[in-house]
Amino acid sequence: MEKIKITLKTFFGLENVLKEELAELGYTSVEIQNRAVQLEGNWKDVYFLNLHVSCAINVLVELKKFRINEEKDLYKECMKIKWNKLFDASKTFAIRGSVHSRLFSHSQYPFLLVKDAIVDTFSNEENTRPDVNTKSPQVAFDLYIKENFVTISLNTSGVPLFQRGYRTETGDAPLNEVLAAGMIRLSGWNRKSTFVDPFCGSGTLLIEAAFLAAGIPSNIERQHYAFKNFNNFDVALWEEIYSAANKRCNELDFEIIGSDKEPEMIVKARRNLRGLPILKLISFKTASFDELTKPEKGGVLICNPPYGERIGDRVEELYGYLGDWFKKEMKGFDCWVISSNEEALKNIGLKPDKKIKLFNGDLECSFRKYRIFEGSRKDFVISQNKLN
Ligand SMILES: C[S@@+](CC[C@H](N)C(=O)[O-])C[C@H]1O[C@@H](n2cnc3c(N)ncnc32)[C@H](O)[C@@H]1O
Repeated sequence: MEKIKITLKTFFGLENVLKEELAELGYTSVEIQNRAVQLEGNWKDVYFLNLHVSCAINVLVELKKFRINEEKDLYKECMKIKWNKLFDASKTFAIRGSVHSRLFSHSQYPFLLVKDAIVDTFSNEENTRPDVNTKSPQVAFDLYIKENFVTISLNTSGVPLFQRGYRTETGDAPLNEVLAAGMIRLSGWNRKSTFVDPFCGSGTLLIEAAFLAAGIPSNIERQHYAFKNFNNFDVALWEEIYSAANKRCNELDFEIIGSDKEPEMIVKARRNLRGLPILKLISFKTASFDELTKPEKGGVLICNPPYGERIGDRVEELYGYLGDWFKKEMKGFDCWVISSNEEALKNIGLKPDKKIKLFNGDLECSFRKYRIFEGSRKDFVISQNKLN
């Protein structure tokens, strides 16, 4: 099969866990880039990666790389691409990407030039034209310009891969699925111990954790992939890859536990799980976090409490109680909190063992680990002294 350059885009801070995930899937020659990783492969890999990778936003296949000296060079170079060989005029398309170049005074202009080249190619060659659909295109292209250097890629995912196809219900501030999957990997959870989210909202972290523990791709429910709409789509190859993916879920010998103080959120989380093979792995409870008692076996807690973004929201106290509850109830656990609220995080009153910068949408956040020792820290020092 023809060798192609594959780029998987991700969020800031998830590059290393994406590389780690690819290594687990058998891809060892992977180069880390800014918010992306790159590897060589073939179209079989493209189908496989779209289905199996949980920490990527989309999978791109490089089409053409070139240098430009002025705006109009972009159109000229794009007119050399045989767009009408790539897809059919009956399909809608979109161009997304990023431009960091002083050659263009309007940020949207380069996208317009590529669109014009696509439409003009079809009208010259076939006397027809495909329509643009920016929201849910059938085929998608990625344009990346850094100063004079242009890369055009096929976006083989189309709609971003965090649209897994399982989430129909969300609360006010749901976590992005790719971010949630990345946070679980960053936490180092071993997929064999208890997993808790006491602010679970619509259940994103729990659902991603359950898919990971069960070894089922979290995109198993997703139907849309832009690669299905390109002319080279190989149905038989895709069916082979999809049918080889694990869809069966064995019982786990540890718990995945979610709770939220709002009953409505628990209803939503349960609805999101409907029909998923991991349905039975997660147990839910309506409760404020401080009503929960320590699970039988130790493990990892990850939570995304309110950040206090809305005027009048007071979350500093909540974070203070959360720190107290960690110390009292979660001994033996690694407790991770993501928040954009630096002041509230300080109120947790524990020294973080790790701080990782991440972005939740546009909000810069800190993802912090608090290791809660079995005894209190005082007991720990005493027992250490006894040993000496
Ligand atoms: C930012 S949202 C979590 C979103 C969730 N990660 C998701 O992906 O849907 C915060 C959640 O904390 C819940 N919450 C607020 N105070 C709480 C408390 N004291 N105990 C438990 N849950 C609480 C809210 O009801 C809300 O669902």
